[in-house]
Amino acid sequence: MIAGNWKMNGVGASLGEAYMIAGGLGDTTARVAICPPATLVQRLAEVLADSAVLVGGQDCRPEASGAFTGDVSAEQLADAGARLVVLGHSERRAGYGETDELVAHKVEAALRAGLEPIICVGETLEQRRGGQALAVVTGQVRGSLPDALKGKAFCVAYEPVWAIGTGLTPTTPEIEEVHRAIRETLVAMFGEAGRGVAILYGGSVKASNAAEILKADEVGGALVGGASLKAADFLGIIQAA
Ligand code: 13P
Repeated sequence: MIAGNWKMNGVGASLGEAYMIAGGLGDTTARVAICPPATLVQRLAEVLADSAVLVGGQDCRPEASGAFTGDVSAEQLADAGARLVVLGHSERRAGYGETDELVAHKVEAALRAGLEPIICVGETLEQRRGGQALAVVTGQVRGSLPDALKGKAFCVAYEPVWAIGTGLTPTTPEIEEVHRAIRETLVAMFGEAGRGVAILYGGSVKASNAAEILKADEVGGALVGGASLKAADFLGIIQAA
């Protein structure tokens, strides 16, 4: 899975990039997704209707509807054409105080609406320097993944907070250490089914480092921010997969 998270970027004029991405997939075997801002989900789903590229949301509220000004529900994302939703991104955990418990409720909402969740986890630089990276990340996996995921399709994305948008990336052994710990946690939680869950890496992935990251042990794809905004950059990553 190579998923692009456009974050709060993109207007109608950006649909052309998505159109070029869809047209440039070539013979890739990767699943490809673009998660645009909520304002573009429906239009992007229409542009990509005849392509293999999936559309996803970037967040949802646990409730299906109601008096929640400014929020979007999983059902609304699905209705607009989304098939996936990114949940628990560190920008939401840090900026909106999202807890593991809230993320788990959002995951349940996504499943209720038939969306495949991409659940994000990752440690801060302070936590890594304190030797807590594995404990933090596996704790987030345990707390953010509800039992309702049993038997369902989902991905986990490991995004070290200090690698997002910074140009810094962990070394391959550092990525592998965390991904192996996530895998062990998934197997402890979901049994053998936990082996089939794709664990994506995210944080400063670009065409020039994608091949090395994607061939690392237990890396099943990438969640890409900045480098998913331009077709040429994103296609370079897809081609490396
Ligand atoms: P960058 O690829 O811009 O570092 O962002 C990663 C990310 O947060 C994807 O969700």
